Amino acid sequence: MEVKNIAVLTSGGDAQGMNTAINIIVRVARARRIWVYGVLEGYKGLFNDQFVQLDEQIVENIGFMGGSFLKTSRFVDFKNPSVVKKSAENLKARNIDALIVLGGDGSYKGALDLVKEGVNVICIPATIDNDLRYTSRCLGFDTAVNNSCKYIEDVKQTMDALSRGVVFEVMGRYCGDIALYSACSTACDLIAVPEKPTTEKEIIEKVKLHIKRTNKAPTIVVAEHQFDVVDLSKKLTKETGVDFKYSIVGYIQRGGAPSVLDKALAMQFAVKAVNLIEKGIFNRAIGYKDDVAFDMDLSDALKSEYNFNYDLLQLFYSLNEKN
Ligand code: F6P
Repeated sequence: MEVKNIAVLTSGGDAQGMNTAINIIVRVARARRIWVYGVLEGYKGLFNDQFVQLDEQIVENIGFMGGSFLKTSRFVDFKNPSVVKKSAENLKARNIDALIVLGGDGSYKGALDLVKEGVNVICIPATIDNDLRYTSRCLGFDTAVNNSCKYIEDVKQTMDALSRGVVFEVMGRYCGDIALYSACSTACDLIAVPEKPTTEKEIIEKVKLHIKRTNKAPTIVVAEHQFDVVDLSKKLTKETGVDFKYSIVGYIQRGGAPSVLDKALAMQFAVKAVNLIEKGIFNRAIGYKDDVAFDMDLSDALKSEYNFNYDLLQLFYSLNEKN
């Protein structure tokens, strides 16, 4: 099959490295005389038939920018089969031979629905949450952790000056990767992640022990959806007599330029995607393992086993939770 036209879209939460991947996809495809169309606002634009033709000039300066140059959306209507069907028809009407989807697991499910409608799809993992379990790394994760660490380190300094404890909330949806790597990299004292559920009572006990042992107020990193950090910080102040504050790291994690590692990752993913399409290999998920980009069946990718780094979590506990 001779591939003449491909399309690319970004879906769900934006992730640093999406723009780098788009830049590389366009450059590699154009060098092979393949036309590239950008779909605006993810699946929403696919349904509404919003396409723009991309070339090397248009994408020239986007490779080092955060956000998504094509824009993205959380388009819940894509769960509706008639919406998927119409979207597939839009691709066919434009003679698009294959679609590259950059996003997280919700976006991958949407891509699988398109496959059922006869669309040729390649998925690139792009989510700061790092929660696609078939791959060790997703685009955006490295940058998000670095942003979170910078934030935590800065806030820790002012907390330390006033001998305050602090509870940080980081993103990750239901995945503790950002919390784990942030806590390890910023010498925080306690952690709460969904992969090792803990109760508020246990956290309070651990904080009391920490204060008794070190005579210092601890820094705690909590993955979102674990606790109400406002409430937890108030309870800690009341129960320990030490002043506790909370700080929600928030969208700074998703903002700003991609890190060097995310840009290098985006490059490898983008080249792999175009190579697969050119060879007529479709419905694959691209992943990363042992410094190399690989591809696997898209539906198998979504069934993959959990790969949380429990060894690192254990190491964190052994360093911080001595009695
Ligand atoms: O999936 C990325 C993410 O930033 C999650 O970490 C977070 O739970 C969610 O998106 C926030 O979603 P929104 O941008 O819609 O507020």
